[in-house]
Amino acid sequence: MDIGIVMNALRDPAGVPAHPVLFQLLMVVTWILHIAFVHLALGAAGLAIFAFHRRERGPHWARLSLALTKVAKVAVSLLIVLGVAPLLFTQVIYDPQWYVSNVLSGRWAIAFIFTLMIGYCAWFAFYYGNRPGAGRHIGIYAWLALALFCLDGLIMHALSYQALLPEQWLAWYAPGGAVDASGAKLHAIQWPRYLLMMSLGLPAVGAFLIAYAHYLGARSDRSAGYLDFAARLGERLARWGFAFCLVLMLIWQAVHPAASGLGAHPLGWLLVALLGTLAGSVQPLRRAHPYLPVAGGLILLTILALWREVIRIHHLAPLGYDIANYPVHIDWPTTFLFFSTLAGIGGLVGGFYLTLLYRAGRTSGLYSADTLVSRWGTSAVALLCLWIAVFLAYGIVIWVRNQFVGH
Ligand code: HEM
Repeated sequence: MDIGIVMNALRDPAGVPAHPVLFQLLMVVTWILHIAFVHLALGAAGLAIFAFHRRERGPHWARLSLALTKVAKVAVSLLIVLGVAPLLFTQVIYDPQWYVSNVLSGRWAIAFIFTLMIGYCAWFAFYYGNRPGAGRHIGIYAWLALALFCLDGLIMHALSYQALLPEQWLAWYAPGGAVDASGAKLHAIQWPRYLLMMSLGLPAVGAFLIAYAHYLGARSDRSAGYLDFAARLGERLARWGFAFCLVLMLIWQAVHPAASGLGAHPLGWLLVALLGTLAGSVQPLRRAHPYLPVAGGLILLTILALWREVIRIHHLAPLGYDIANYPVHIDWPTTFLFFSTLAGIGGLVGGFYLTLLYRAGRTSGLYSADTLVSRWGTSAVALLCLWIAVFLAYGIVIWVRNQFVGH
């Protein structure tokens, strides 16, 4: 059996509504946002727990634990929302691989949702309990939540990795010739890749703390001592975190299959170099501008996202799967609606919210918007109304045409 023919036959016969490379690009870009919040959530949750157990050592630790508990709470909700977009784009161009992988580990794919729900609820229990004077037992909720988040990361990793190994699907589906339709196994885990993806939470929370201290430094109601403590801790975490990830990255480089040629690909080594550079330059970057370590981290994630895609292509192309020949049935109205939504709602409305939140958060006491922000707010509301009207009108027109015209 030629697995390339099987994969191509499993494609959606409806094809894709625009050039596949467009979806590939959107998949890479949106995954960067997803994984950035995965790292922030994991790093903030881990450090919130660590700080919680150190609260007796001084008020800064207690305060840091409270602050990071809130950061992790928000970051988890954002990682979930931002995970949807790459999920949809993966399903558009890599539907055969993604669905097969999910079916082969069906129980885990479903358990992913429930473990995430339980983990997030446990984090909320910790959030409500983590008050001055809280008992140590509250920490159990946090440990449970973090363990479940790590399990969810493992499930995500296995689903992604199994999708790269079509040659092994049949053996997983029918080991020794007997069909196993239970979906009860995670069939393939590449530990260095998984551990690297998760450990990036360490430098992420470090870089975040450096930016956090600078951001809140503008407020008169924040103690300079606490902010200095947070920035110093952030610097140490970022430096050692990048160094630790460098070791994991080198191990990952060593385990690529020899025939894939990935071990010699320049992009993987660029990641190695970038991790090394970041590990060595957190302090000068922080001095140049406290937001620069975050910017460096985002550049790293961009290369990582591209590297994941290069790895996928190297695994699938020799088997005869190439997204470039995915059947295309151009649908201009949908494409136009999508990009105008992205620019209008994402850019103008999202930009308004971000600017508002950024400025309000740096103000002590009551924040009042200046003329620019308040006009921006008015146009954002107007645009939102227009968008809802166009969205509904478009749907209604199509429904009427399908129901009453052309039969
Ligand atoms: C605590 C929860 C989560 C964690 C820790 C997590 C972590 C990860 C990690 C580590 C990867 C990279 C795996 C690899 O390349 O080896 C990944 C990929 C991905 N995640 Fe998440 N994730 C979480 C939740 C979600 C959710 C809720 C969604 C969707 C709504 C999602 C969608 C995705 C997608 C689409 C990919 C890329 C799949 C691919 O390209 O093959 N994730 N996630």
